[in-house]
Amino acid sequence: MSALSYHHRFEPGTDPSTPPLLLLHGTGGDEHDLIPLGQKLSPGSALLSPRGDVSEHGAWRFFARLAEGVFDPAEVTRRTHALADFIAAAAEQYGLEPGRLTAVGFSNGANIAATLLLLRPESLGAAVLLRPMVVLEPKQLPDLKGRRVLISSGNFDPIVPNDHPVRLAEMLRRAGAGVTLHPHAAGHGLVPADMSAARGFFQARP
Ligand code: MLT
Repeated sequence: MSALSYHHRFEPGTDPSTPPLLLLHGTGGDEHDLIPLGQKLSPGSALLSPRGDVSEHGAWRFFARLAEGVFDPAEVTRRTHALADFIAAAAEQYGLEPGRLTAVGFSNGANIAATLLLLRPESLGAAVLLRPMVVLEPKQLPDLKGRRVLISSGNFDPIVPNDHPVRLAEMLRRAGAGVTLHPHAAGHGLVPADMSAARGFFQARP
């Protein structure tokens, strides 16, 4: 299988001072879903948007799950490495600097962005995680010093268990990342406060 085997959409950047974005959709989305969000959050950024390659009854995801909220670590690990290999190949093909690549992931896409940080930290420079949960707890944490992460969570999220955003933030902080945790009065769907938090994250980039 070629390393560029993920279906994806690439939109070249128009402002080289902005970071390239890796857009990772939620369950049932596709490579087109988050393009408008990426354009809004970081105008001028190059956008790399893969489509999850696992079909759950026709709904695209980035890794299979055993049931809602139940994950197989081997499956999550295997798919994370596959996506990291794709990112490396795509970065070379499109001339993107992986160290500047900022993931913007929602739900299942946020979850695989987090496991990319944990298992293949060289793939990303920063990450905006919208409604993530803890899907993997590696025995050994990577060195994430210098990496910025935003976790935007919903206090009334029926899918993400209450303690997960804090647990994920603590795990990433233990690894050395600079983590901002923004809980909102929201469910699993995004609300305007997510946009403000994410915009603030991009505006505050060093
Ligand atoms: C997942 O399976 O990654 C999470 O439950 C989020 C979702 O896709 O519903």
